[in-house]
Amino acid sequence: MAKKKSTTTARLSPAKIRADEARYVMNTYRRPPVVFTHGRGCRLYDSQGREYLDFLAGIAVNALGHAHPRIVRAIRREAGRATHVSNLFHNPYQARLARKLAEWSGLDRVFFANSGAEAIEGALKLARAHAHGKTSASGAPKTRILALENSFHGRTMGALSITHTQKYREPFAPLIPGVEFVRFNDVTDLEAKFDDTVCALVVEPIQGEGGIVPLSEAFWQRARALATQYDAALIADEIQSGLGRTGRKFAYQRFGSLPDVVTIAKPLAAGLPLGAFLASERFASALTPGLHGSTFGGGPLVCAVALEFLTVVEEEDLLANVRARGAELRGGIEKLAARHEFIREVRGEGLILGIDLVIEGAPFVKEALRRSLLINCTHDHILRLLPPFIISSRDVAEFLKRFEAVLKRAAKSAAAASSQGAQAAAHAQPILRAAAR
Ligand SMILES: Cc1ncc(COP(=O)(O)O)c(C=O)c1O
Repeated sequence: MAKKKSTTTARLSPAKIRADEARYVMNTYRRPPVVFTHGRGCRLYDSQGREYLDFLAGIAVNALGHAHPRIVRAIRREAGRATHVSNLFHNPYQARLARKLAEWSGLDRVFFANSGAEAIEGALKLARAHAHGKTSASGAPKTRILALENSFHGRTMGALSITHTQKYREPFAPLIPGVEFVRFNDVTDLEAKFDDTVCALVVEPIQGEGGIVPLSEAFWQRARALATQYDAALIADEIQSGLGRTGRKFAYQRFGSLPDVVTIAKPLAAGLPLGAFLASERFASALTPGLHGSTFGGGPLVCAVALEFLTVVEEEDLLANVRARGAELRGGIEKLAARHEFIREVRGEGLILGIDLVIEGAPFVKEALRRSLLINCTHDHILRLLPPFIISSRDVAEFLKRFEAVLKRAAKSAAAASSQGAQAAAHAQPILRAAAR
């Protein structure tokens, strides 16, 4: 008798996949019709076998690209041993990974969670635990949390409470009380809002979803000084910018002083879900057995894979590659920017780059996909590039060639649409004037 194909391996038509998704999956994402089935390096392949150049890396996750042989080997090896034993017991990899992360970051201890938002939740709890029972000079509780305008920290209730974008927050109110937003890079506003009632200040050293906007040196140094003065936690959210993406292990390392707490996730386990928060002993000691926990966080499989990821970054000197390819990519985009006046600014560092447009970005993302290029757009008009750390000079050259064609084509359509709009507006004027009379 012929073997029946398992439902997970049977080939489904893209149309059937989209139909099931429309019917059964909660309607939270707007996706293009393409179905990706597999990848290799910085290439992804769809169900029709078409190849795409992936300059998004699963939103900064696949730093080693797809199906990296050493990651595949580590997953295979550990899947055949123990994927999960729970945090009630030791496993061979968690402490080794924590030690490496402590070495990378300059901090002392690590707590493992499953995602970025969960790492943020833990970091906020740690700051509150450190301040627990303390009061300000005037007797007020030390519970206020400061975050920055234009920030993004995730979708759980705590992470949302420190995320600035109104459209993400508003439908879920009331959020956690006691959060105030400081104007981005505004030292005067920071000084006005910081006092001894603050237990934490959360910053992204480079705002990711906010449009690849770097925090200024002056703001960081003042934040560091105020946090120390008032015994509050300076929390650096490096979920998007950390673990090598800027060409440094952490983006904050350009400032020369340490945060108290760092959150990480995205590339940590090379595509498997793993997040963590790291802290100096001074703050980490606030957590004692039973105060915080996670069923899945830090299991043997994900920790073994994360160790392999960090080891590959070190052994293959990928930080140098990030810096070199980042410079090539940025240089190439700046040349294109000089020829296209709708590009306002190119920002970022290493392989986290934003191309700020004066026009809407969505048509560029669509045109890029049509030309088998994966990028995305944040804040409606900022194109974002987050390619894998392993890209070569040839990949960069290929990207730039295709991207130039994307710019030309999408700009032409945008110009046609706006001239149609202008014609329609001109046509509408007498009608509107008549209607107004
Ligand atoms: C800076 C930053 N913090 C937190 C998060 C939330 O991470 P996750 O989606 O893994 O919960 C993200 C996700 O994009 C992020 O970029």
